[in-house]
Amino acid sequence: MKIGLIGFGSMGKTHSWCVKNLNYFYRDLPFTAEYEAVCTTKEETAKAAAGFLGINRYTVSEDEIINDKAIDIIDICTPNVYHYETLKKAIKAGKMIYCEKPLCISYAQAKEIAELAEKNNIKGQIVFNNRFLPAIMRAKQLISEGKLGRILSFRCEYLHSSAADPNKKAGWKQNKDICGAGTLFDLGSHAVDLVYYLCGEIISVKSMSQIAFPERIGQDGKLWKTNADEAFYMICKTKTGAVGTIEASKIAVGANDDINLAVYGEKGSLKFSLMEPNWLNYYDGNASDGDYGGNRGYTRIECCGRYPLPGGIFPSFKAPIGWLRGHLHSMYSFLDACHSDKPVLPSLSDGAQVQKVLELALENDKQ
Ligand SMILES: NC(=O)c1ccc[n+]([C@@H]2O[C@H](COP(=O)([O-])OP(=O)(O)OC[C@H]3O[C@@H](n4cnc5c(N)ncnc54)[C@H](O)[C@@H]3O)[C@@H](O)[C@H]2O)c1
Repeated sequence: MKIGLIGFGSMGKTHSWCVKNLNYFYRDLPFTAEYEAVCTTKEETAKAAAGFLGINRYTVSEDEIINDKAIDIIDICTPNVYHYETLKKAIKAGKMIYCEKPLCISYAQAKEIAELAEKNNIKGQIVFNNRFLPAIMRAKQLISEGKLGRILSFRCEYLHSSAADPNKKAGWKQNKDICGAGTLFDLGSHAVDLVYYLCGEIISVKSMSQIAFPERIGQDGKLWKTNADEAFYMICKTKTGAVGTIEASKIAVGANDDINLAVYGEKGSLKFSLMEPNWLNYYDGNASDGDYGGNRGYTRIECCGRYPLPGGIFPSFKAPIGWLRGHLHSMYSFLDACHSDKPVLPSLSDGAQVQKVLELALENDKQ
């Protein structure tokens, strides 16, 4: 499969690292995938990106890539506001699509894209890479097996400290015109997706946004008035009646890449921390009580790199994993589904479902 890459910043690098290294991590792949061409906004960065990728073709026109018959897949790694137009063109050109989150910057756009993709029978995946960590996959398995029973509540926070420094310059992720919404879209989209994936559809949201530093210096060295949230706090309810909190923040001093997730059911509970991605904590509410504690307590499941075959072979399944491994499995799952007749998940429709929740959060905050 030939891939056209649009945007080559941190995620362009991440996706291309995944494609280039697939063969190390997965045995006897029945397909090959490689980048054919890359597009960025400037000639010199596009040329540098092609050099980095070891390919000859680069351009500043995404249309050139999207309309190229030799290209099967469009990989979208641009800032949020640009996703919609690129998605629309890629769907019309009949390409398979791998698109970074958030899908778009409004629910109306996201819904239109999801419907258009379905109508045109397009295979499209939204990149919610945290779903692809073994601990989260094991959490999904335990919930699907009924080990938690009816889910009653949840907590999910995604914390960074990147905006806690008032001297840090504002970039596009702090500019609402380009990001659509700040930390809510950037980190909140991942947190909402994890709750949606594990606990079901979210139908109502109460929320509050926060801007702690109303002014900073922009990329041009001039004073910049912050117009995108630096933190977002939500109380949510799912279709099945579970209630919980979702928080996204870039002003959490001391945080690195901290997702802390807990799901509480009638029969048990689960806890996960992204800074300790090798472990899933499972509490079996049916374990016997007794003197000195009986058999109760959290079991720390050693998920490590235990992917089913053809994954889990390199490095050894016992070796600790990290953020990049989740991205790698996300990319593998997408390419495998493109090659075979498996469904592509999480789909563009799932991206639209998450976008709906983000929009509910924005609306409630405005009120
Ligand atoms: N899933 C994750 O773990 C994760 C992490 C970070 C960012 N993201 C998402 O990835 C996307 C990109 O973020 P990033 O951090 O890589 O940004 P970035 O600023 O590092 O890179 C953006 C790239 O897009 C290019 N670009 C901008 N406008 C373009 C256009 N109109 N046409 C072609 N190229 C264009 C820029 O030249 C640059 O190469 C965003 O949607 C973001 O939300 C996802």
